[in-house]
Amino acid sequence: MRSHNINKALNGLNGMITVPGDKSISHRAVLFASIAEGVTNITGFLPGEDCLSTINCMKQLGVNIEENGDKVIVEGKGVAGLYEPARILDVGNSGTTIRLLSGILASLPISSVLVGDDSIAKRPMSRVTGPLKMMNATIDGREHGQYTPLHIRGGNLTGIHYVSPIASAQVKSSILLAGLNAKGTTTVTEPYRSRDHTERMLKTFGVEVQVKNESVSVYGGQTLHGTTITVPGDISSAAFMLVAGAIVPNSEIVLKNVGVNPTRTGILDVLTEMGAKMTITEETQFGEEPVANIKVQTSALKGITIGGAIIPRLIDEIPAIAVLATQAEGVTIIKDAEELKVKETNRIDTMVNQLKALGADIEATEDGMKIVGPTPLKGGTTESYGDHRIGMAMVLCGLIAEESISVLNTDAIAVSYPNFFEDLNKLQNN
Ligand code: S3P
Repeated sequence: MRSHNINKALNGLNGMITVPGDKSISHRAVLFASIAEGVTNITGFLPGEDCLSTINCMKQLGVNIEENGDKVIVEGKGVAGLYEPARILDVGNSGTTIRLLSGILASLPISSVLVGDDSIAKRPMSRVTGPLKMMNATIDGREHGQYTPLHIRGGNLTGIHYVSPIASAQVKSSILLAGLNAKGTTTVTEPYRSRDHTERMLKTFGVEVQVKNESVSVYGGQTLHGTTITVPGDISSAAFMLVAGAIVPNSEIVLKNVGVNPTRTGILDVLTEMGAKMTITEETQFGEEPVANIKVQTSALKGITIGGAIIPRLIDEIPAIAVLATQAEGVTIIKDAEELKVKETNRIDTMVNQLKALGADIEATEDGMKIVGPTPLKGGTTESYGDHRIGMAMVLCGLIAEESISVLNTDAIAVSYPNFFEDLNKLQNN
């Protein structure tokens, strides 16, 4: 396992970079293209480990996929054309792969087994297996389908109206994908709207999707048609660079072609409310997805309270926001974010314990954390715990700490941002 020693960025971070493709959109592009009829050309694909897990699973289901860096060509087979896989499907570290693929597999009269790494083995699967069973799929797993390995035998589904207790795009998408091959209409209602990439991309593939407030519906038996997808830059990867630009003295960074879908831009709202100097330019569309350039400069920041409907719009950015808050004047409270406990790690624990050891004034709460700033950070040894976003958050600490910070197991960062260190070096050498 590799580790990195991070030193204070004395000359600031400057210049322009293009962050890698959006992880959520890259997964969906390959999954939807595989169950579509005809060929789909994808550009801007994220060749990170999670999305490569999705490609590998779809290949095992008989789909021809050609990859060349960020370009991927998928020869769709139509959902009924997928093969019964001869071997176990391994999703690696990817929650999006296992939960969305479960929805597709649950709609087919075939047997399949899904496993992942140690982190996936601890993450709750009943949030998808429960509703998929209500639709008539047969699914088993440890603790009655709560945990992997999952065994799915599907087919013959009936549409349901599922009122989800959590705002989760993985849950919503899994049920809608099953619904596309179910009798009647399938509706998912969420407490708050989660990221809507599935709804937008299904339209690009020619599917009729109805959205009304926090409810989304599809009717079964619709055919997806191969298309062209250009994936925007991932705002969740951009978030680490935006925070770095705001907290490292003498910085001015421009991030190009970042996806600014309103269901994902909670981080921009937080940066603005905390006082960050930020501008958005070159607004355009990649298909159904809005895209823009974002510039950020070193800023004087103040603490704020973050909770409620904004949480699903920035859930993956909370590790970066926690680092940001250590440099802001006053109190930052993050609440209503219990979902952090079931991400790749328990992100409340992994962030609070490590930031505290580096000298931050931070406490865990039942549903988030409380941070009082600004505090200087000191050196030490930190760890990703196999969680890409924890690894990147610890690197941010190293850029501003008085002494160097060593980050163990930085390999995990390749899950969503394979060129993270190259991009950071570029910004430090301008
Ligand atoms: C994702 C949804 C979110 C997010 C994850 C990707 C998706 O998870 O945290 O990184 O692509 O649908 P939940 O659905 O569990 O909130």
